[in-house]
Amino acid sequence: MTNPIGICDSGSGGLTVLGACAKALPDQPFFYLGDHNRGPYGNRSEAEILKFTTAMIETLFGRGIRLVILACNTASAIALREIQEEWLPGHYPDHRILGVLVPMVEALTGLDWDRNNPGLSSVPSKNVGVFATHSTVESGAYPHQVRLRAPKVQVIQQACPGLVGAIEENLAEDDLRDMVASFCTKLMGQLIGERLDAVFLGCTHYPLVENLFRDALPAGVEILSQPDIVAASLTAYLTRHPEFADNSGGKLEFFTTGDPAALSHLEQFLPGTKLDFKTL
Ligand code: DGL
Repeated sequence: MTNPIGICDSGSGGLTVLGACAKALPDQPFFYLGDHNRGPYGNRSEAEILKFTTAMIETLFGRGIRLVILACNTASAIALREIQEEWLPGHYPDHRILGVLVPMVEALTGLDWDRNNPGLSSVPSKNVGVFATHSTVESGAYPHQVRLRAPKVQVIQQACPGLVGAIEENLAEDDLRDMVASFCTKLMGQLIGERLDAVFLGCTHYPLVENLFRDALPAGVEILSQPDIVAASLTAYLTRHPEFADNSGGKLEFFTTGDPAALSHLEQFLPGTKLDFKTL
């Protein structure tokens, strides 16, 4: 019996995370679920995000999957903690859900998630920018969780309204470039003369236009790759918990809550892979 790991997202963006995970774990089967029927989540209410995310995870667990990566920043920031604390223990106590926020916070602070006492932190000061959806920014989850562990690391947030839709619609590169440049200018404007050390693209779609962020940001600003960080974190997790791993071959399966016929244009999300979505 195979033991695929589930990766789910509000839509297609989580394919960027799947790509990095499949590369890091080439023998591990993965089962992708995109909530195209109800996504994007970026402007949804907290109650909706909680309800839709729980439903996706329940669907995956109902298919026999025991470990799910919630690849969506918006859902990880807003709903995951509540799902893990309130829902999971009573429904699937032996199953696990990992999000994308924890690995990012660990990478930004250099500390394990459990080291959340700022008195212990000797992490040197730096300024890190995060570009994300409106809901992720509103939640304040990234700056809050980083501040708890590393008070000298300042997280500057910038929402990028419209960018998810523009990427999905394959807008002309010049138009995307202008949008990205305006978000970078806004983020830089928040710094008031301070130096920006690094940024990360805290939305699953934005790595697809990482080159435009690179061009718009000052030289020397590091761009941390969230998909690679999540993949490294999953690899380490499976080493600690081999009961969730499976080395039977790197089969990838793609499912959607929406219409598979509408998903024939997604090569850019996972280059080199035939994205044969089925309805779940
Ligand atoms: N997957 C979402 C995220 O990473 C972006 C798309 C959406 O708004 O749902 O935040």
